[in-house]
Formats: sequence, structure tokens, C-alpha cells
Amino acid sequence: MAFKSYIMETLDWKNLPFGYIKTDYNIRCFYKDGKWGKLEVSSSEHIDIHIASTALHYGQEAFEGLKAYMGNDGRVRLFRWEENAKRMISSAEGIRMASFPVEMFREAVFKVIDLNRKFIPPYGSGASLYIRPLLYGSGPEVGVKPSSEYTFILFVTPVGPYFKGGIKPVDMLICREYDRAAPLGTGTFKVGGNYAASLRAVEYAHKAGYANAIFLDAREKKFIDECGPANFFGIKDNTYITPKSESILNSITNMSLVTIAESLGMKTERRPVPVEELESFTEAGACGTAAVISPISTIFDPDSKKVYEYCKNGQPGPYTMKLYNKLVAIQSGDEPDQFGWVTIVE
Ligand code: PLP
Ligand code: COI
Repeated sequence: MAFKSYIMETLDWKNLPFGYIKTDYNIRCFYKDGKWGKLEVSSSEHIDIHIASTALHYGQEAFEGLKAYMGNDGRVRLFRWEENAKRMISSAEGIRMASFPVEMFREAVFKVIDLNRKFIPPYGSGASLYIRPLLYGSGPEVGVKPSSEYTFILFVTPVGPYFKGGIKPVDMLICREYDRAAPLGTGTFKVGGNYAASLRAVEYAHKAGYANAIFLDAREKKFIDECGPANFFGIKDNTYITPKSESILNSITNMSLVTIAESLGMKTERRPVPVEELESFTEAGACGTAAVISPISTIFDPDSKKVYEYCKNGQPGPYTMKLYNKLVAIQSGDEPDQFGWVTIVE
């Protein structure tokens, strides 16, 4: 109890960054001889890793990101955990790793939340408990082939919004210099290599004073792919429009916003979005677990020198706010879970 109040007093919940804060416990599980072992609880922040593991040499690694929210009723809510479990299986298959079973994923997530309850940010702080599962090839190989051993790790850390300012609009830069993923590559999987590949573009955007880079399709550089570690959406004519692409991560948040938009009487379209169409949107945003919805204020295209503007007086538009309010109300339990997305962690 004393430690709990220490944490409550020392952490500035309302101003938490999207960063790593040590918590008490994490979970590990090991795959060997063709099967997964039992979930193990650890209080160490470190792992012992084989010097020849396929994760270190050939990037055989995938991860996930989901959040737990404290409700006004003191109950902890998990948002669409099963989608993350399924996507981790798809990522594992994509880079030929052993899959981590959905039921074990559930057990691990519930366990890690329970063990770290005191780190769940309070209701109304705007922060949440970020849950980070990862899976990697831990057995030794020198030839390029899948490992025969795997490690699953699950840790949590309390976080604030990914983009500084939370719902404050951000500026984005179109990036033609670097690609994040190839059309038939691993862009649809949540594998570490995609993020390493994105770092030059992120740095390019940050150095120029932008919150992040907008990636275009690698084949033609004509269509919008994604917004850093988040999906893109644009709004016009009561329609929510989001890119369909063979090289983006299919965002669970985006999928949820499509459902919410339709429930609010909007039309929705998932299709290729050409850069020129940016001109016709009245609002735009980036969405993801970490980003939630980050409204986009401006997008600069260095080729055409055009600046596309989406916010009047620095304020997000009405559609973005409606979508954001509905999403966070469902996640926190302020509104009924009409789509069956929320699991209470008892
Ligand atoms: N796109 C990329 C590249 C991401 O890393 C993420 C984060 O997970 C997203 C989109 C958003 O996906 P989700 O809403 O499932 O978190
Ligand atoms: C998430 O939104 O959960 C992500 O994984 C983004 C992260 C790479 C910062």
C-alpha cells in the first residue's frame, strides 16, 4: 500500500510521455522442441540472449501494442485484445516464427495487468497502461533460416499520448526519400524490421520540424500509405476515407473508427488515396493504439511545395472530435460497449 501511494504521488499521470517506465513484473514464455512452455513471471528487465539468435542477426522479431484503461467505476478495461493476439499470429507466420496461441496470449495479458495494477493510470488522466508483447527467434542459426526456438515476452508501462499534446493537431511531412516497406514485403506485419526501416524517414521529418513522416506507396509514390506508426484517414462529404494498401499495417484502431463512423451515420471508404486528394479533405488524422487519434493540422509536400491545411484556429475538426470522443468513451467505459470490444479485467 505504501508503495502504491508512492507511485501515485511520484508519477505525473497527466503528463506522462509515451516512453518506458519500469514496472514490477513481466511475463516470459519459451518455445522449444516444437512446443510452448508455461508462462513465467519475472521481475528482471533483462533477458539472456544467444549470440547467434535469429532475432539478433536476421530480424526474426514481431511485437504488438494494446492498452488497458481504468474506468470511472474502478474497473480495468482492455480494448480488442483478441485482434492483437490474432495479428501477432499473422506476423509470426509472415516471418516464419512459431505462433503464440490466442488463449496463452489472453492469459499472459491478464496476468501481467494483475501483477502491475498499481501502474494503471487513474481514470481521467488521459494516460493508460501500454501492453507490449514481443516474440522473437531465440535459437542459434548462422544460415538464413527460421529459428527452432522462440521467446515470448510481455511487459507493461504507463504511457501518455504518442504525439505530444494528445488531441492537439500535428504537422506531417510527405516523405519520398525513404520507404518503410515494399509492396510484397513485410509492411502488413508488425515486425521490428519495418520500424528500423522507418527511422531515416522519422528523423528526416523531425529534423524538418514535423511530428512524423507520411509514407507513400513504394511502387509509384502516388498514394498515401501510413503516417509514421499510425494509419491515415481523411474526411470529406460526411465520409471517412482510409488507404487500402498492400504495404501498411492494418490498424485495429482504424478498423474500429470505420465501425464508429458508420454508426454515426457517416459513409466509409477503404481504397487507394492519391496524394492530390489531400486537397479535397476537410479533416485528416493519424490513428493507432499509441496515437489514438492525432488530428493533422498540416501536411507539407516537398515536391509540389503545397501545404494542405485541416485545422481552423489550431482546433481539430468536428468529425475528428466526434470519432475521438466516441472511441475513448468506449475504451474507458464512459459509454456502453455497443460493439463488444471491451473486456473487463477482474
Ligand atoms: N501502423 C503502424 C505502422 C503501426 O505501428 C501501428 C501501431 O500499432 C498502427 C498503424 C496502428 O495500429 P493499431 O491501431 O492496431 O495500434
Ligand atoms: C502502437 O500504436 O501500439 C504501436 O505499436 C506504435 C509504436 C510503434 C509506437
